[in-house]
Amino acid sequence: MTDTHSDVSTVSVTIDGVEIQAEAGELLIDAAERTGTYIPRFCYHSRMKPVGMCRMCLVEVDTGRGPALQPSCMIPVAEGMVVDTESDATKKAQDGVLEFLLINHPLDCPVCDKGGECPLQDQTMAYGPGESRFVEEKRHFEKPLPISDTVYLDRERCILCDRCTRFADDVAGDTLIHFMDRGNNTQVNTFPDEPFASYFSGNTVQICPVGALTAKPYRFKARPWDLEETVSTAWTDSVGSRVTVQSSRNRVVRLLGVDSDAVNWGWLSDKERFGFEALNADARLTSPLVRGGSDEDLTPTGWATALSRITEALADIDPARVGVVGGARLTNESQYAWTKLAKGVIGTDNVDAQLGDGLPAEVVLGLPRATIADACRPGGTVILLGPDPKEDLGALFLRLRHAVVNDGTTLIELTPARTGLSPIAAHSLHPKPGEVGQLAHALVAARGGTSIEAAGVSAGAIADAAKAISGPVTVVLGRASTAESADAVVDAALALGSIDRVGFLSALRRGNVHGALDAGMAPGLLPGRRTLTDAGPVVDAWGSVPAASGMDTAAMLSAAAGGSLDVLVLLGADPLADFPDRDLAQRALAEVGTVIAIETLANASTTGYADVVLPAAAPTESAGTFTNLEGRVSVSAQKVTPPGTARADWQIAAEIADRLGGDLGVDSVESIRAEMAAVSDVHAALTEEALAADPVDGVLLSGGSVPPPTASESLAPTNDAYSLRLVATRRMYDNGTMVQACPASAGLAAAVQVRLHPSDFAKLGVEAGTLVKIVSGKGELMAPIAVDPGVPMGSAVVPANAPDANANRLIDVTTPVTDVRVERA
Ligand code: SF4
Ligand code: SF4
Ligand code: FES
Repeated sequence: MTDTHSDVSTVSVTIDGVEIQAEAGELLIDAAERTGTYIPRFCYHSRMKPVGMCRMCLVEVDTGRGPALQPSCMIPVAEGMVVDTESDATKKAQDGVLEFLLINHPLDCPVCDKGGECPLQDQTMAYGPGESRFVEEKRHFEKPLPISDTVYLDRERCILCDRCTRFADDVAGDTLIHFMDRGNNTQVNTFPDEPFASYFSGNTVQICPVGALTAKPYRFKARPWDLEETVSTAWTDSVGSRVTVQSSRNRVVRLLGVDSDAVNWGWLSDKERFGFEALNADARLTSPLVRGGSDEDLTPTGWATALSRITEALADIDPARVGVVGGARLTNESQYAWTKLAKGVIGTDNVDAQLGDGLPAEVVLGLPRATIADACRPGGTVILLGPDPKEDLGALFLRLRHAVVNDGTTLIELTPARTGLSPIAAHSLHPKPGEVGQLAHALVAARGGTSIEAAGVSAGAIADAAKAISGPVTVVLGRASTAESADAVVDAALALGSIDRVGFLSALRRGNVHGALDAGMAPGLLPGRRTLTDAGPVVDAWGSVPAASGMDTAAMLSAAAGGSLDVLVLLGADPLADFPDRDLAQRALAEVGTVIAIETLANASTTGYADVVLPAAAPTESAGTFTNLEGRVSVSAQKVTPPGTARADWQIAAEIADRLGGDLGVDSVESIRAEMAAVSDVHAALTEEALAADPVDGVLLSGGSVPPPTASESLAPTNDAYSLRLVATRRMYDNGTMVQACPASAGLAAAVQVRLHPSDFAKLGVEAGTLVKIVSGKGELMAPIAVDPGVPMGSAVVPANAPDANANRLIDVTTPVTDVRVERA
């Protein structure tokens, strides 16, 4: 019976003689832990469905019919339940389970990566038998088996807890690791020729309770007692997953996911988890570099010389002839310092943290925002109007997948081709490239009862999708393809904005890009989601701000190519690789007077065109904060020192400002945060106390007053009957500098391939895998061809940045879509 003195959803349970209150339906193992009693376990994981595999959590439970041993991970609490976790029967069961587990377990502890942090070791010490009675030969397997490029499996150590298999099947949807054989021969393994090639494989290593699964980047690198650690934020995408950064001897050696209820639930993509390897790369920039002349190589120099070159280039210059591109790599504090340097000291508004592959700032900041939790609400609807989250935003993909599979969230895709979520989407509508605006308008009209065909999608399919929209709606909003302009996406977003109870969760992919927008790193913006025309306290603190809105990246590169820009600062940016139009990027870099690069690793733009390169501290090497795609701020902690003479980006900005005669007035990360809070209502909540109060979930920023763009319907582009429209999509592993600097991921970037609908493919009359030529008005690309029913008719899908085959050589950013011909080579 429910306790009349408590909530109807609360029950009273007695654990080891102490009465506790628990939520009805809560698992006994969780209720006990929440109230201070830890019940040992191996297979149970709070983010996965319980399976009762290991029996380590057996405790004596009395529900009125006498005490009996029950697995506490499978038993929901009930009113009046009496639990004894320390009875003789409980102890005998724990002892017995451990003795059985150890029968076949090898004596590997001295050479096992799990040693020192091993639940099997710890629980054997705490609950197990003092000695083994097993004298027979243990079973043996070949060890270790590389089951993917990153993960090694030692089957002898496996205790068959089903955690890795459940994660792969239920959480990631990558059914690649299984139990095989029967009885004493049961083993976990992958099928031959089917490696554990999952973007999320590192999670299985983290949750494996023994040393059966180990990750190559950490194997034999350190022991738990060698490690120092701090809670921080992952930086390789904009999800802002919470991590523990572990270092040994001033070198980061491992990242582990931290269970943030608001963000990543403890899960990480492998790119987030193993991305730290790039920071340890031998190629890290450790000292400033300068180029003597256009045909000379970059040569190392001192900071004084390099900074003098920069101040000479910037002194007495027309501010309108200076541009700053990039900034998403930086912490919030460094972004603020660079915005203040550019807009307050130099006086240019030509600042853009996005590289032409994102969305206008006023769309991201001006539309009503949603959190990850909003998107994952049971009974709600997610409309995916953006990139494939599985490729771009791994931890978000896992949250969305859970919501759809387990919580009844309806997913509707408006994407140019199939995504990693398509298998679980209620409706997948694939508009012609450049026509998603028309599709969104038709979807909204269909909700009002008017069904029309749009963007190559039938009226019936649109009507069915419209009928499925229910509950609160979250639009996951971003750029699905770099081969079409942002205009159609903006049009679609504004159309979907008319739906009741709609919110927008930004899916801009690049690191701290949302922090950059909040810090004013976009044309026309100032810190705190303010516009130049509504500068408020910013102008009082800075003295002045630019009078007129400046140029975005595309406009800056066009100006540079046309000789109208003298200095281009690349703030962690590689336009040659990341800007959608390589030809324009190349002409701009060749033409601009001085290119200044602030980088952690040299990239193609730096090596080919920079006149001055300053080495910057990377994440884990400088303190600050990070803002995720929800607008949630969390600590990005310093754990190690930067290599060589590399400095934090904010220190570089302060030094340049000082030399230009404009004191930034900041001398620490805390002083920058204090100034941000003073000039920005949005950042006012970002106090040291607030950051410390919730170090895991962080501080969700809200407010701001950027007006959204006004609606203007985009026109469907026309193309000739012989052309296909190009779709260039991002992949998790590509030819990006950071990916290629990680040994764990460098080889995982898939080679270029062009995918066509079966009917378009058939017209070519070639075999799958044949090398074909893709021709656009801008250039050519050779790629093997593949047939894919997930690609709509009339489209050609290529990866945006495959090794040695960047699709940006085909794209012209002045046109709304990119028409191509696919020809026999
Ligand atoms: Fe020892 Fe644990 Fe490794 Fe087994 S998994 S060998 S108990 S450290
Ligand atoms: Fe459990 Fe690890 Fe074995 Fe997987 S490999 S079943 S996680 S012990
Ligand atoms: Fe309960 Fe394994 S933890 S059966």
